[in-house]
Amino acid sequence: MNTADTELVMGILNNNGYDFAKDVQSADVVFLNTCSIRENAEQRIYGRLGNLKILKEKNPQMVVGILGCMAERLKKNLIEERKLVDIIVGPDEYRRLPELMDVVYGGGKGIGVKLSRTETYDDIIPYREEGLQAWISVMRGCDKFCTYCVVPFTRGRERSRSLESIVKEVEHLSAKGFREVTLLGQNVNSYDDNGNDFADLLAAVASVDTGIRVRYMTSHPQDFSDKLLYTIAAHENLCNYIHLPVQSGSNRILELMNRTYTVEHYLTIIEKAKKIIPGVSFSTDIISGFPTETLEDHLMTLELMEKVKYDGAFMFKYSPREGTKAYRMGDDVPEEVKSKRLQQIIELQHRHSLELNSELIGKTEKVLVEGFSKKSDKFFAARTDSNKIVVIPIQDGIVEGDYVEVRIDRVTSGTLFGEVTSVFDKYKSSAV
Ligand code: 5AD
Ligand code: SF4
Repeated sequence: MNTADTELVMGILNNNGYDFAKDVQSADVVFLNTCSIRENAEQRIYGRLGNLKILKEKNPQMVVGILGCMAERLKKNLIEERKLVDIIVGPDEYRRLPELMDVVYGGGKGIGVKLSRTETYDDIIPYREEGLQAWISVMRGCDKFCTYCVVPFTRGRERSRSLESIVKEVEHLSAKGFREVTLLGQNVNSYDDNGNDFADLLAAVASVDTGIRVRYMTSHPQDFSDKLLYTIAAHENLCNYIHLPVQSGSNRILELMNRTYTVEHYLTIIEKAKKIIPGVSFSTDIISGFPTETLEDHLMTLELMEKVKYDGAFMFKYSPREGTKAYRMGDDVPEEVKSKRLQQIIELQHRHSLELNSELIGKTEKVLVEGFSKKSDKFFAARTDSNKIVVIPIQDGIVEGDYVEVRIDRVTSGTLFGEVTSVFDKYKSSAV
């Protein structure tokens, strides 16, 4: 999401005559786009600010700005505490960046941290490098108020972009040769543009160009509809892959988290998805060590993982965020217990990834060739619907941006290895 926001900011600045420096040393203005989701994300930014301080001592004219959730959360404190920061702009005030830069050039400090109920940046074309894959924000903010999460406070109320503008953006990307788009929102399932829901949006986007594969994240289990599952099944270029954060396998913890679903409801969605979308795979987010989490709660999370068998997972230690409801519950799971539980979750996930990957041996997958593999330019790296990397030997007639079918020959928990069996031009779109 921050990559998409950075492209948006670059679009706004570029439209106002700014150009982009090759590196930080030669830049007149440096912006850090920040994340507040966990303490360590913020610590990394303080580390970066430490490096910028040294650069600014050498070049006092350099302007330093903080964008994103930390700007929203810490507001003026950032300027007061860190004298080196000149401009602070939260997620809903990027349109004012040129005006706030003028304030800085006039000798003042530029501060724009108001949240909006309507801003979607619908009319702004993000600045994107040429490429194959693009992010598209389809909505902003979040109304879910999970008790651990800072996002509703830093990104404000939920609002959706118009379906029409998103479709136009995809048409534009198609004309430029992009081959994959990922639709982004904190909770895409509550997308609503005058009665068009997320399934309608996905169907519209998938129909723009069947040579473009479509991904989306993040889904909230409470709002996941059957209509969405049928839509995914009906369009071959909608990935058969669902990122469905569960957070915990204990109903007691889910309630304390205000996730508004039970483990049973969650598993019903998984079962339905498996029936409606053949070959569907899942990934998730899990938090270990939420306040009051007992060993029993933790074991329930492991048990749930065994039941679903995720293809992948983002796994985190609970990080208390000031101002959230959970912050007031205390942070009573000791650090070493959190770490140990997280380690067990990670190990189990690795085991499941290897197991699921092994089941693919001998089968074929449709993949997008992304470029040379990290380790050797004799191999291409390609990506499956389920976001797995497949390493394939380079061969005549195949180039970056092709969709090809590969047979999987060998796997590890993180990577698949295979051979190309055929080349496609477009995904076929079956009738809805
Ligand atoms: N501590 C740990 N993980 C968190 N997440 C959100 N807030 C916190 C927090 N305070 C995780 C959730 C969410 C993902 C984006 O980040 O798992 O789904
Ligand atoms: Fe945060 Fe919950 Fe909203 Fe996700 S759904 S952004 S975890 S409040």
